[in-house]
Amino acid sequence: MSLAVSYIFVLATYVVFNLIFGLSSTMPVHSLYQIKVFFPEERDALMQIRDSVSSTLDLHGNWTGPPCSQNVGRWAGIICSNWHVVGLVLEGIQLTGSLPPTFLQNITFLAILSFRNNSIYGPLPNLSNLVSLESVLFSYNRFTGPIPSEYIELPNLKQLELQQNYLDGEIPPFDQPTLTFFNVSYNHLQGSIPDTGVLQRFSESSYDHNSNLCGIPLEPCPVLPLPSLISPPSSHKSPPQSKKRKLPIWIVVLVAVVSTLVALMVMFVFLLCYMKARERETPKEHQAGEDGSSEWTDKKMAHSRRTEDPERSVELQFFDLNVPVFDLDDLLRASAEVLGKGELGTTYKANLESGSVISVKRVKYMDSLSKKEFIRQMQLLGKMRHENLVQIISYYYSKEEKLIVYEFVPGGSLFELLHENRGIGRIPLNWAARFSIIKDIAKGMAFLHQSLPSNKVPHANLKSSNVLIHRDRQSYHSKLTNYGFLPLLPSRKLSKRLAAGRSPEFCQGKKLTHKTDVYCFGIILLEVITGKIPGGSSPERNDEKIDDLSDWVRMVVNNDWSTDILDVEILASREGHNEMQKLTEIALQCADMAPEKRPKMSEVVTRIEEIDRTNREND
Ligand SMILES: *[C@@H]1O[C@H](CO)[C@@H](O)[C@H](O)[C@H]1NC(C)=O
Ligand SMILES: *[C@@H]1O[C@H](CO)[C@@H](O)[C@H](O)[C@H]1NC(C)=O
Repeated sequence: MSLAVSYIFVLATYVVFNLIFGLSSTMPVHSLYQIKVFFPEERDALMQIRDSVSSTLDLHGNWTGPPCSQNVGRWAGIICSNWHVVGLVLEGIQLTGSLPPTFLQNITFLAILSFRNNSIYGPLPNLSNLVSLESVLFSYNRFTGPIPSEYIELPNLKQLELQQNYLDGEIPPFDQPTLTFFNVSYNHLQGSIPDTGVLQRFSESSYDHNSNLCGIPLEPCPVLPLPSLISPPSSHKSPPQSKKRKLPIWIVVLVAVVSTLVALMVMFVFLLCYMKARERETPKEHQAGEDGSSEWTDKKMAHSRRTEDPERSVELQFFDLNVPVFDLDDLLRASAEVLGKGELGTTYKANLESGSVISVKRVKYMDSLSKKEFIRQMQLLGKMRHENLVQIISYYYSKEEKLIVYEFVPGGSLFELLHENRGIGRIPLNWAARFSIIKDIAKGMAFLHQSLPSNKVPHANLKSSNVLIHRDRQSYHSKLTNYGFLPLLPSRKLSKRLAAGRSPEFCQGKKLTHKTDVYCFGIILLEVITGKIPGGSSPERNDEKIDDLSDWVRMVVNNDWSTDILDVEILASREGHNEMQKLTEIALQCADMAPEKRPKMSEVVTRIEEIDRTNREND
């Protein structure tokens, strides 16, 4: 009896004590759990990510202790439920590096996985057995390689965002009825879209801007199988366990050429791989870069020891010592696809095994060009650095084969952006985007003119298919490519293949100058403003068209400026009309028949920037 009384007394005291001091009886237990309860295998998995990437967040400083406190994530980017990690959301923090191939498998309850807007490269991570996964968001990164086929087995997948990466290969047959959001646009996927009901339900914009996709909802596939750009028929049947990559035809040709020359000379050429120069390079990356280059130096030494006659060896050129270096072998092993066939040769996109992507142009019509001349011009061009010029990384010269290696720019060309996919489903290119692209072109041109005073026509090939686009979230930027070719072409007849060949002075047999570039700039301006293709409807295929574009200019602008000339896509943006009118005036002056009446590029830049400033002030 007294025991019961004392028990009640103790209990009552405890309750009163709690009431007075406002303590919750669950508190001590909770804080105890905070320290004790976590799942080491989940934590270890996260540690693996932490240690393989760098970012603007100090993950090393932040990700300490247990990741979860019941339903609250203690670590930046971690979502928890019932002590388990259920979400990993690291967006827009410049995560750089490649992910470990398997690391997520132990985070059994993972439902949301997002790495949006970072710079992760290498293959997509393995997600097998993650049955709870609902959202997989990897858009706006630099992932390469195929979409792993095990993704089609995620039973609860609702949302898959892979847009704006460098993925290639075919789309696996996703058929999860749960899948309601799917986007693989802006990659390098090819082949037919699998005809599962689920995949066909998404709109064109889920598939846009890939190398070679076809089938519903895009254009129907050709009846014959698509010509494979990647594998020549011979290697087609190689057993799957073979480690050899399929070689594209041009590489097979190149191998043949190279091997015949081997008897005469030993050649090695080292090609730089350009990875987007980032000022925000972290010390860790820097170290890796340095390691890479010292390894390269060893290789080069080994090679040069074997090279008997230095005169005969192919020159090695490094335009940027800060980027990882690759040799010809790496290039030969790369998978490649055709990006475009231009007037002066074909451009390929090559995926190096390291995960880097470069673009390689095989130039034609330069057989009579001496090595000295080629090298001199390449040296001149390769040294230039400007944010609006596509960087030349390296080059290769042999009598039969000349390659120029460029930085790869993922967004396609201005020509494609302006004229392709017109019609239903097209995303209109608004005026702000057009203005930004124009400003970049003008800046790139002014820089070329200032840097190459000795070149008669520094660019000489300015047209919308030689303006490459890269997008930075909402804004568009452009870079000029295929510049500086005029000195490489042995005859005036061949110069016709360049955009400069459509200027009035060329057609009248007069001499070309820097102002010839200004003419071409005027034409691009009009093309961007009017949305019309210069000189007609069919791009590129203008071999027989030797006329200058003056008639076209007169045709699109008539006499006076009026909104009639505007591309319908920008007609609606009323605020822009004033700028459009001013730009049209600049365009017409640039496209003047008489070269001396055209303004200088530097003046054009000043005027465009002026328009930009007044526009901003008015806002
Ligand atoms: C980690 O970051 C999160 C969110 O930014 C913050 O709430 C938490 O206190 C940080 N933890 C440590 C140990 O710095
Ligand atoms: C897919 O992503 C692209 C690029 O970010 C975007 O323009 C497009 O609207 C998206 N489509 C869908 C259906 O979300």
